[in-house]
Amino acid sequence: MDLVIRNANLPDGRLAVDIAIAAGRIVDIGKVLPIIGQTEIDAQGNLVSPPFVDAHFHMDATLSYGLPRVNQSGTLLEGIALWGELKPTLTQDAIIQRALQYCDWAVARGLLAIRSHVDICDDRLLAVEALLQVKKQVAPYIDLQLVAFPQDGLLRSATAFSNLKRAINMGVDIVGGIPHFERTMADGAESVKLLCEFAAEKSLRVDMHCDESDDPMSRHIETLAYHSHRLGMQGRVTGSHLTSMHSMDNYYVSKLLPLMCEAGVAAIANPLINITLQGRHDTYPKRRGMTRVPEMMAAGIDVAFGQDCTLDPWYSLGSGDMLEVAHMGLHVAQMTGQEAMQACFRSVTETPARILGLDGYGLEVGCHADFVILDAANPVEAIRLRATRLKVIRRGVIISESQAAHASLSLPGRQGLVDFRLR
Ligand code: FE2
Repeated sequence: MDLVIRNANLPDGRLAVDIAIAAGRIVDIGKVLPIIGQTEIDAQGNLVSPPFVDAHFHMDATLSYGLPRVNQSGTLLEGIALWGELKPTLTQDAIIQRALQYCDWAVARGLLAIRSHVDICDDRLLAVEALLQVKKQVAPYIDLQLVAFPQDGLLRSATAFSNLKRAINMGVDIVGGIPHFERTMADGAESVKLLCEFAAEKSLRVDMHCDESDDPMSRHIETLAYHSHRLGMQGRVTGSHLTSMHSMDNYYVSKLLPLMCEAGVAAIANPLINITLQGRHDTYPKRRGMTRVPEMMAAGIDVAFGQDCTLDPWYSLGSGDMLEVAHMGLHVAQMTGQEAMQACFRSVTETPARILGLDGYGLEVGCHADFVILDAANPVEAIRLRATRLKVIRRGVIISESQAAHASLSLPGRQGLVDFRLR
């Protein structure tokens, strides 16, 4: 036995249990396991969760905020134009350094698995080479999946499809797409067909930026579900963003959700980005733009919350904190019921782990000994406080520690210092 974590509250409601670890895996979970551990950690009734998982990110653009200028309109399209200005000036070394810095932030916040899109429309494939190197470098502490993302459109950009195939041959894991950005709806549908067929032939997963607009007639998710079902790709296809669903007709959505469920298509909402990029053409009332999260969950569809952007052409904030993402998602979706709040926590942990197909993820015997000990008693408190990640553990070894936040108040009319833990 290498390590025992004692007195741990687990996200599924198990309280004050012990977790025994050997050779980087969980070997026992239960009440007061015998004292056999060489090392012990007392979790003191805090929440011990499997690590956070971000199912949707853009690591090639991260931490580039202000280069070469900031997004003045705050729209998705100006962000894409701005990224187009930045791309020719990118160097491999700069991409790697920024990505590694972000990965350090991620580890400190207990985020140990990330699916990142990487733009393959630059014929040099600089970003692909850079992120493949980052993937290798961070592998001991972060599971980094890469999606070949044709940012400028698969059919709209002359070399996109050949570049995407090159990227997959170089080691990129997943097939991406952006059907709503193609020249026409018909081209968008054709791009979905081509990409799904390519992925099916190669036995790869698919994760497309899909319907990231306020246009209720942007219905590429229907086409994605159709081809996922037709090609037998259930459980391997994801629609990211799906913001047009926010504005769709309710009757149409009542037909769409069962189709998605039947096709085994998962969904990823990116609340921080959706709430800021969408609705920009509205006056008032102003749409929120985020997809229909609780409705999809009720229909049996896996829904994760992603970070999407941190300090890049599309978003001027962000920190790699998946509790901040869950907090925003919970508010935007009005998921304030007890079970709904628990579901928001699962949307940044076990649900994205399932979407990524992570092996050995979870808190059961046989799973990897990967944990985050939070300064909170349960998942709802963790979201409410965006709780400090006291310890981050990978394969049974502590890889990050943070101090719990304290406050000392000196208040007029009160005797002495008021000292308390900020939780
Ligand atoms: Fe994205």
